[in-house]
Amino acid sequence: MAKVTFTCSKCGASHSKWAGQCDSCMEWNTLVDQGPLSAGPGKTLGGKRGRTITLTDLATVEEPPARTIAGVAELDRVLGGGLVKASALLVGGDPGIGKSTLLLQAAARFARNGLKVIYISGEEATAQVRMRAQRLGLSESPVILAAETNLRDILTTLDAEKPDLVIIDSIQTMWADHIEAAPGSVSQVRSSAHELTGYAKRKGVAVIMVGHVTKDGQIAGPRVVEHMVDTVLYFEGERNHQFRLLRAVKNRFGPADEIGVFEMTGKGLVEVKNPSALFLSERGKTTPGSAVFAGIEGTRPVLCEFQALVAPSPHGQARRSVVGWDGQRLAMILAVLEARCGIPFTGLDVYLNVAGGMRVTEPAADLAVAAALISAREDTPLPRDAVIFGEISLSGALRPVSQAENRLKEAQKLGFCQALAPAAKKLENIAGMTLRPIDDLAQFVEDLFGSR
Ligand code: TYD
Ligand code: MG
Repeated sequence: MAKVTFTCSKCGASHSKWAGQCDSCMEWNTLVDQGPLSAGPGKTLGGKRGRTITLTDLATVEEPPARTIAGVAELDRVLGGGLVKASALLVGGDPGIGKSTLLLQAAARFARNGLKVIYISGEEATAQVRMRAQRLGLSESPVILAAETNLRDILTTLDAEKPDLVIIDSIQTMWADHIEAAPGSVSQVRSSAHELTGYAKRKGVAVIMVGHVTKDGQIAGPRVVEHMVDTVLYFEGERNHQFRLLRAVKNRFGPADEIGVFEMTGKGLVEVKNPSALFLSERGKTTPGSAVFAGIEGTRPVLCEFQALVAPSPHGQARRSVVGWDGQRLAMILAVLEARCGIPFTGLDVYLNVAGGMRVTEPAADLAVAAALISAREDTPLPRDAVIFGEISLSGALRPVSQAENRLKEAQKLGFCQALAPAAKKLENIAGMTLRPIDDLAQFVEDLFGSR
């Protein structure tokens, strides 16, 4: 078998020789020397043979994993119902988004609920962490602190201290001294994460690692770590907005796609109990180009506003700019609008934005996007009391979406009276909501904006 010596720092694919382009994710200049991960088959790090492992069957009844609740509903939900013992977690996000703040607050919560928590900062001195704790009003919390980057020393200390939860902030600062590479390089990040994950499983300790994601991929992203850990959470948000989303993208102990919503205040992160109200709070009077989408994030409905702006392009090449939604999907909807409804966008700049720094990934938002685009182009507002959802196919037909009833109930709770959505039988009797069933996009355009 070919020896694997290079790893792509973007997608984590392994390669036997170096190449300028990763043939898995097609990214350029991302292959890096991964260095040794283990001492080779049959040997342990000390050169000795391993012990025989215990083999078992499928039928043995497993207890559900023991969990500790943080007491912050937004965090517990994303974790899948609390923190699981002997699990490794990665919390990724842009620098400065609030990961350290989130984890210090979480550490204090778990400590209050009886866990022995050790917070190890490789980025800040203990004095800085203490200052943050003071600002957050957590100075009295029994969290144990250290500022350290040497992984060997950290693991030795942890073995003696026997904590229940360890927070490593961040994995990019950790330095495993058996690897000759700089901290933050792919091989260091990989080895450190590997050692820490192993420690979590071996000792039954929960380990949370912080990982910075950089846009240009210069520093080894935590992508390589994602495969190793049980749970991957992303902490996201726009720097100039106060809202922060904690999103589970992988969870071996709970549902993925779950989100927790927080607001960054002068006293740290505060959970937002009703995200729909928050995302719609900035909605002024009805303007052309604004459409309210009734979405589902994980297990719960969340309403948010799509805003579109369409303007004649001063350049030869018209602009397509998207924040909070997929650019490819926007291109598809523009093409369907042109081909199936005769609404061209040639020569027009198109801007699409999801208000409040929210990011939507559901195809169910197609119809809301289309509605926002046409409304902006025709300079005609949509009905103010309407929510919109539905997936658009290339033929212009509308596809029903999952959990339509939950979407409608949430809309009704927030004072909306009608829904523009694909027809579905059981939706007809939600009190106070009128469903305007839509079969295809051309009909939708005609209904709302008159025949063209
Ligand atoms: P931080 O947790 O240090 O981010 P990360 O660890 O992801 O790099 O938080 C960074 C920002 O949060 C910083 O710009 C200041 C802001 N902040 C508040 O607004 N309120 C607070 O109470 C705290 C502690 C930080
Ligand atoms: Mg930090």
